Amino acid sequence: MKLSRREVLRLAGSAGVLLPLSESACLHGRPQAKLLESRLPLPKPFEATLPIVPVLKPARTDAAVDYYEVSVRQASARILPGGNTAIWGYNGTFPGPTIEARRGRRVSLRLRNELPVPIVNHLHGGHTAPESDGYPTDFLLPKDYGALLTSDPRARVKWGEREYVYANEQRAATLWYHDHRMDFTAPQVWRGLAGFYILRDDQEAQLRLPSGDKEIPLMICDRSFDADGSFLYPSLDPSLRGQAGVTTDYMGGVLGDVILVNGAPWPKLEVANTRYRFRILNASNARRYELALEPAAGAGSFVQIGSDGGLLEVPIGHRSIRIAPAERFDVLVNFSRYRTGSQVVLVNRLAGGRQGEVMRFDVVRQEREESRAPYALSRIDFHDAASAISTRVFDFSYRGTGGWLINRKPYDPARMDAQPKLDSTEIWRLQTDFNHPLHVHLVHFQVLSHSGRPGPYDAGWKDTIDLGPGQAADILVRFSGYRGRYVFHCHNLEHEDMAMMGNFEVI
Ligand code: C2O
Ligand code: CU
Repeated sequence: MKLSRREVLRLAGSAGVLLPLSESACLHGRPQAKLLESRLPLPKPFEATLPIVPVLKPARTDAAVDYYEVSVRQASARILPGGNTAIWGYNGTFPGPTIEARRGRRVSLRLRNELPVPIVNHLHGGHTAPESDGYPTDFLLPKDYGALLTSDPRARVKWGEREYVYANEQRAATLWYHDHRMDFTAPQVWRGLAGFYILRDDQEAQLRLPSGDKEIPLMICDRSFDADGSFLYPSLDPSLRGQAGVTTDYMGGVLGDVILVNGAPWPKLEVANTRYRFRILNASNARRYELALEPAAGAGSFVQIGSDGGLLEVPIGHRSIRIAPAERFDVLVNFSRYRTGSQVVLVNRLAGGRQGEVMRFDVVRQEREESRAPYALSRIDFHDAASAISTRVFDFSYRGTGGWLINRKPYDPARMDAQPKLDSTEIWRLQTDFNHPLHVHLVHFQVLSHSGRPGPYDAGWKDTIDLGPGQAADILVRFSGYRGRYVFHCHNLEHEDMAMMGNFEVI
């Protein structure tokens, strides 16, 4: 039996009604991402210290596996200077604890759901077996949550606890984990369900890149706050137990007015006059950034060494970095270009005012350089485009009250949009009407073209590609490792929740 999305939503207890849009939020009839203004005075910039997210300790280890246990629960966090913010967090923290994994050693992550709603966990960028990938209906329900929530006959639903297994048979890379509950990913990530997952290997260790306190993951995301300090979000049903979706004016995406890095508003970090490695993640729902340093340090302001899927072949210098939701940039910044005493602001050129600043680096001390300036980084065995056995076209567009669609269809777990063969290589042609950061689960891909030649940020292995209005990209994808069902979708989380997602099954 095939169910329409509407029936699925109805069975799931949500109405899924998409109402007409107000003019102000539209651009050529498409709803734009919209700023949600906080209902309290915004904190001053560069007063908080950048939090360094703690690395999670395994509950136990054996010869081949590291076992982690994490409870997902409500907690209160000190984000604003004036008071506490209720969050939903992995182990009650936001960002979630960082998981550090080693290539070749498995990770077993046992999650316990202590929230009042279903959750799903996805390791973004992970080459993961389907039963651990966090398919959007593979709900982990609270222990005593009664009814089954989905009509998807293939859903693997569990109550209380579930184990996710990550093989870590892939290149070292900056991955991240986040919630993926069908129709509710955006509000659940907004409340705090996101964390880093750093995969390391021996080859990378030999490069003597900056390490220890000079290797810092930076999770950048925007949020808005209610008058009482809680997160503000335009959910139709803030309990997240009934109707899914946001008020119509935010259908294009929710933009916060407070920029957080590792959970602190516009923080500062004291640095030495040496090289640092920053693993930058844009964990925002809908905001894209163009990051630059002020004062600038020329074309080598950021030396990019890695992308979504790990190290590049050779470093690439950038004056600025455009980063869309879910993308990662692994960069070196050399503070020896600045005098001790300098203050270097990480700015966002895509916004003015308060959202035009992200954080500040204060160069406060001199130290000897211990790291090496890498020339060659890694070897990449790219696929051969000539080996592609088929080309599939996916159109990502807004269709009036139908919502955000792929090939004119809304997400439906019952419909398969592609069935690539195991170990085959395909070209996927992605085309868009609007800004959409597009993500494919299971694979990393190579960008063949991006409205012309690959762009300056398309090097290496990608799992998310940012398309602008009217753009098209050809990506080369190889489906290896696992048979089974996965999703691909827009990573603007409001677009994702409002149906811009499709299925593929490796057969
Ligand atoms: Cu980062 Cu399907 O997600
Ligand atoms: Cu989108």
